[in-house]
Amino acid sequence: MQRPQPPFMNSEETLPPQHKILRLPPNMDAVVYAQYGSPDVLSVTQVKSPTPTPDQVTIRVHSAGVNPIDYRLRKGQAKWLLPGHFPRIPGYDVAGEVVFAPADSGMKPGDRVMAFLDSRYGGGYAEYACCHPTSVAPIPPGMSFDDAAALPLAGSTALQSLRDHGKLQSGDSVLINGASGGVGAFAVQIAKAYGATVTGVASGENEAFVRSLGADEFMDYTETDFTKLDRTWNLVFDAAGKSDYFSSHSVLADNGHYVSTEPDFSGAMISVLTKFLSKQGTIMLANPDADDLHELIRLYEQGQLKVVLDDVIEMSEATAAHQKIQNGVDRGKLVLRVK
Ligand SMILES: NC(=O)c1ccc[n+]([C@@H]2O[C@H](COP(=O)([O-])OP(=O)(O)OC[C@H]3O[C@@H](n4cnc5c(N)ncnc54)[C@H](OP(=O)(O)O)[C@@H]3O)[C@@H](O)[C@H]2O)c1
Repeated sequence: MQRPQPPFMNSEETLPPQHKILRLPPNMDAVVYAQYGSPDVLSVTQVKSPTPTPDQVTIRVHSAGVNPIDYRLRKGQAKWLLPGHFPRIPGYDVAGEVVFAPADSGMKPGDRVMAFLDSRYGGGYAEYACCHPTSVAPIPPGMSFDDAAALPLAGSTALQSLRDHGKLQSGDSVLINGASGGVGAFAVQIAKAYGATVTGVASGENEAFVRSLGADEFMDYTETDFTKLDRTWNLVFDAAGKSDYFSSHSVLADNGHYVSTEPDFSGAMISVLTKFLSKQGTIMLANPDADDLHELIRLYEQGQLKVVLDDVIEMSEATAAHQKIQNGVDRGKLVLRVK
């Protein structure tokens, strides 16, 4: 009698697990675009399933996070950096179940995981996605696939901005511009968990939401330009990417840090030119790192970090999801339901 086989794996019992031949269905459903353009260039299509390398984890995707970078790439805003590669599958955040994992990864088929995909072109809005174990972490008990898909990219951006680039210390004062958005809502909570006093900046209609995340103070950007105020913060984190280092210089305390999410050429120069000044500026680029996912999960499990979903949209409505993310979500994160 034949032994039952795990899904999509062969039964070459004599080979070490990492050499077993992975068999995914030849084709899968994915959201793709074959040219830059409006949200209408997106369609759900059958494409070839990915071919993982032996050192990669393959994930059956249940939910995929939707981030502003997805629509910016679709519009061609970064084609100088990431040209071609059509047809493309957008998305860097996934949550789902492990189909295959290298033997030394500590993961096995069926494990519930989240990942910040480490492929430069994404690939998250699809039934299957592959990445290295260094970008994957287990979903904690009680966390849904939708919540898990919302966390990796935006949460890592907030954590790396505050802790690594902003050198956040307990007792610091922090201003977070864009405190109601995907990145900012995580940043407010992480800054509070790390012992900071937080000023959140967003539109007035999001004041109650930003305060509910733990912000000590709130500013409405339509009424107050924080860069013109006669006061200082130890760290200004512009999660919205709407300000710049020079206009924020006067509101930075001595030895303060300015961090922005808006990468451009002059921003890259700021990071270099201010490195040895008393007020440093960094334009950050988020980096997939499983250790950071574990830290975000630790904060979640301790009740210091919650995931707020703006909406969950079916994969077949990816065009509507992109219209929503590029118009600006109301608050929190947008997720695409894949399975
Ligand atoms: N460099 C990186 O690695 C990296 C990583 C992640 C994200 N990003 C970038 O970071 C930005 C934010 O991402 P997200 O996911 O948080 O986007 P999001 O969910 O759309 O949130 C945008 C936030 O910006 C606020 N906002 C809009 N206009 C503003 C203004 N004039 N002044 C201050 N705040 C304003 C919004 O507040 P209201 O809704 O209350 O108006 C909201 O809080 C995007 O540009 C994204 O591309 C970069």
